[in-house]
Amino acid sequence: MKTNGVETVTHDVLIFGTGLAGLRAAVEIARKSKDSINVALVSKVQIQRPHSVCAEGGTAAVMREEDGDSLELHAWDTVKGSDFLADQDVVDRFVETSPKEILLLDHWGMPWSRRPDGRVMQRPFGGHSFPRATMGADKTGAFEVQTLYDTLMQYSNLARYDEFFATSILHKDGVFAGITGIDMATGQFMVIRGKAMLIATGGLGTLYGFTTYSQTVSGDGHAIAYRAGINIEDPEFLQFHPTGLVPSGILMTEACRGEGGYLRNSEGKRLMEKYAPKFMELAPRDIVSRSMITEIKEGRGFTRPDGLDYMHLDMTHLGADKINKALPLIREVCMKYRGIDPILEPVPVRPVAHYSMGGVEADINGATKMKGVWAAGEVACHSMHGANRLGCNSTAECVVWGGITGGEIVKYVKSNPPLLDVPKEQVGAEQKRIYEDLLQKKGTENLYDIKKELREAMDRYVGVYRTGDEMSAGLKKVRELKERYKNISIADKGSIYNTNLTNAMEVQNLLDLAEILVLAALTRQESRGGHARYDFPNRDDDKWLKHTLATYTEQGPKLSYKPVTITKWKPVERKY
Ligand code: FUM
Repeated sequence: MKTNGVETVTHDVLIFGTGLAGLRAAVEIARKSKDSINVALVSKVQIQRPHSVCAEGGTAAVMREEDGDSLELHAWDTVKGSDFLADQDVVDRFVETSPKEILLLDHWGMPWSRRPDGRVMQRPFGGHSFPRATMGADKTGAFEVQTLYDTLMQYSNLARYDEFFATSILHKDGVFAGITGIDMATGQFMVIRGKAMLIATGGLGTLYGFTTYSQTVSGDGHAIAYRAGINIEDPEFLQFHPTGLVPSGILMTEACRGEGGYLRNSEGKRLMEKYAPKFMELAPRDIVSRSMITEIKEGRGFTRPDGLDYMHLDMTHLGADKINKALPLIREVCMKYRGIDPILEPVPVRPVAHYSMGGVEADINGATKMKGVWAAGEVACHSMHGANRLGCNSTAECVVWGGITGGEIVKYVKSNPPLLDVPKEQVGAEQKRIYEDLLQKKGTENLYDIKKELREAMDRYVGVYRTGDEMSAGLKKVRELKERYKNISIADKGSIYNTNLTNAMEVQNLLDLAEILVLAALTRQESRGGHARYDFPNRDDDKWLKHTLATYTEQGPKLSYKPVTITKWKPVERKY
């Protein structure tokens, strides 16, 4: 079928993004519908190459109530870790569901690391008062993706759109109709129609230069949802993981500290004694990252000419056996990328852009405000992580809301929603935007310089600690880059794998998202979780115990706010 001459295909459901959340949702749809619902898996990479494979440390769940853990304790740790910005009803649902997901994965063949008695092993992680990180050594995400993929392959009512670059969401009167996009291998512009879609495209962290994210993670799902009128919630809360390998930014999993590693300053002292005497290296990430930057600012860091000053992650006391069994990937990465064997020497690390707590606004069931569209995984903001996520709650969130949204989508499709006609004018406008405006650009600005400058500006102005002046300078820079973007040129006019064209759309996505992140951060005049300001150093519950919403308008982003759901725990001072 064709729309305005554009190839148009139809499926019941589109899953946009095939990492942990997307694959888990696809399995749920297939099993709950007994393979009767037709699912299209749409990814700009190949199906087994999502960024989820880079998840290392573990998946949080209460599995040892007999030893003293409890759902209540996991919920409390998560709410306290969130600096009280998490919606507490959502957190309750999360902690109740995650142990069931661990068992489901186990039944589907997940090779969990195990205790000598055969039960799944769990290790300590930051901000958790009990060992809850259920893991596959330090390659947890890769094993989970493989397990879900293998499980999904037992079903057949699936279509794959690998290396498909989605460019817009089609909709009519607030109801989902489909997406437009480019089959990258052929260059064909297409429409994929459906009754429902799950957005599960992961994060947006390549906004930053020093980051743990794969270079494929460019916020595409966020950006096309935003431009289609779906709000982005809490964008100012970007998590800096304390231990990015210097200078590449590769993740040195929190499991290094969960297994007993220390963080030492240039005086050889365990710096966290001063900032979090009880939890030490396993305080939540916002607190550890702030502490490391304070040490560096006060002259107790190791310095480098490129400014990537660092602390030492010291695992030399753990012994070869523990490192080889529990952290084999970490050892391999340190040796290959830095020529450092962590059995023998400390590893240089500093806080690194790692995760966005905010994302596409979605309710407790993962539903967005557009009928027929759900969101799950990092791209979504179910208001679960608030201002700071706890380690290993993310892979857990992916499988929990992958399962929940999959189930919701089955109910929706079974209720016989309409399959909308393709909105032809939107398809025409999108074709014009890409092929007449963008591809024909012959300006003087270099796209890749714009991207580099954007990432440098985010590193410089919107880091672990921010000030109003710095963020104003950052916002000015982002807006200047948006202007310069209008004058880029696309050198490659070809069809086959025109990554010059898709890179241009990625940069546009990043610029839109940078603008709302910085604007929301500048507007929030307090320090909370991942948003720490020197000029407003305290949390201000009277004014700022609320979620930010960023809405797209032709004139630029508009901010509004909504309340936090507090059911059990009123905000108190956080001590670790
Ligand atoms: O440190 C890590 O392994 C990261 C885990 C996470 O972000 O949850």
